[in-house]
Amino acid sequence: MFFLTTAIDYTNGSPHIGHAYEKILADVLTRYRRLRGDEAYFLTGVDQHGQKVQQTAEKEGVDPASFVAEITQRFTALWETLGVEFDGWAETTDDRHKKCVQAILSNLKAADQLYKKSHSGHYSVRQEQFLSDRDRDESGNFGPEWGEVVIIEEENWYFKLSEHTAWLKSYLEQTQDAVIPAFRKSELLNALERNPGTDLCISRPKARLHWGIELPFDSDFVTYVWFDALINYVSFAGYHAEAADHLPNFQNLWTSDERPVHLIGKDILVPAHGIYWLCMLHAMGFPDAEMPRLLVHGWWNIRGEKMSKSLGNIVDPKELAEKFGVNALRYYLMRDIVTGKDADFDPSRLVMLYNTELANELGNLCNRALNMTQRFTAGILHRGGMTSDDDLALQSSLITSTADYRAAMDEFNVAAALEAISRHVVHCNGYAERMKPWELNKDPQKHERLATVLYHLAESVAHCTVLLGPILPTAVGSLAAQLKLPHLAQLHLHDLHWGLIADAHEIDKPAPVFPRIIDAEPA
Ligand code: ME8
Ligand code: MG
Repeated sequence: MFFLTTAIDYTNGSPHIGHAYEKILADVLTRYRRLRGDEAYFLTGVDQHGQKVQQTAEKEGVDPASFVAEITQRFTALWETLGVEFDGWAETTDDRHKKCVQAILSNLKAADQLYKKSHSGHYSVRQEQFLSDRDRDESGNFGPEWGEVVIIEEENWYFKLSEHTAWLKSYLEQTQDAVIPAFRKSELLNALERNPGTDLCISRPKARLHWGIELPFDSDFVTYVWFDALINYVSFAGYHAEAADHLPNFQNLWTSDERPVHLIGKDILVPAHGIYWLCMLHAMGFPDAEMPRLLVHGWWNIRGEKMSKSLGNIVDPKELAEKFGVNALRYYLMRDIVTGKDADFDPSRLVMLYNTELANELGNLCNRALNMTQRFTAGILHRGGMTSDDDLALQSSLITSTADYRAAMDEFNVAAALEAISRHVVHCNGYAERMKPWELNKDPQKHERLATVLYHLAESVAHCTVLLGPILPTAVGSLAAQLKLPHLAQLHLHDLHWGLIADAHEIDKPAPVFPRIIDAEPA
């Protein structure tokens, strides 16, 4: 079982393009594994507790529960618009999640992994948080952004994280795919080296934060938001659930033949997932063989700058989908970033890549294969042989592109997979220009050759339809319908072979699936 989760998004504001990228990538990877014929389960959701949410709700004068309900609805509506189809939905205010978090806390306490102690330190009244030396400015002071800073003493509960960091180091060193890509594992190991281990404060006194999950053994406290949120990966996979909870079977998802993959952004590897979560799982008794793989993606920046509320450069995926269409947005977000690295979000590249690779190149190929078949051979495809070097080269381009696509997708690199498809489409258009079906049509002696050429082009459209399925599921539905081959949407990778289209197959009337975007004005 391929079990993929994403980060659960904070509901302290509207979804942005970074959220959309991560969820579309997860959707594409899940659909790809189904295309490979594997069973797959995709869990995502929202992170609804914590200081940020409590503060934003207060500012807007609403109670946090109705505040998160409204924001959550913006996320689910967006996923529906963007064709992000998940199997499990994680909301941290869900009672089933709270029960699981509390059961884990009780078990850790019984295993002597939690203790209470008093801490005294600098505290920002405005930000309602303790400050550390890292929060000081160059001159060693706490800057004006923190407002009034006082020394306070506070009791809290701690998790004995430091008991697990030696294990973590050796686990990371021994496990090749613990963190993907590899350079992120080095970052994590470096961070561990610099900061070999303090324990993790896992509570907040209710006096300053009430919007959280109560500690089952001390009702004056709620659970620290990260400790709560990370547990979603097991709580919504059925860990500690009873049969009546309508959650998946934990063993089927988490401890099957393949280790779970957690898809996260680079900002939440250290310390949240790479240190806290792996140590939490270890303390909970998970063996090394059941540790999740952390698949770490990079960030979309805006003209080289970080997207942020204060810079006012947040890109709204809903607006983009309305302006350019879901296909163009999904294609761009998968095509113009290498998984693991950062990229610059640029709407003019979105338009350029869509217009070049889908509207022009793939559109041209479909037009030739389908329109000319309607016009020249009455909509009937006649399977011909491989009669020239050009035919053989076309076939071998398809085989190479399909293999490259598969290798890239297996390494989570969707951009390289799309590039491989695009290469074959370009090859097909070159073939069409050399074979000139429009000339062949003028000579009745050459009609057999004409039919063969059109068949070969259509055969490539059929293959590309299957390969594009994970990335552009709805477009692929329309292509399959025009080819009158609805079963293409159900095929697996291993079903692909030259001859998907039967001899004398009749196709439907073609219509453009990727209309050119005319408005190239930057968004
Ligand atoms: O971190 N480009 O939530 P979040 C790409 N609730 N990805 C981006 C991005 C960008 N510009 N900005 C953010 C949280 N992300 C926690 C997670 S998991 C148990 C709890 C990614 O809403 C970010 O890296 O701030 C993260 O993976 C996801 O969006 C949610 O970020
Ligand atoms: Mg964030």
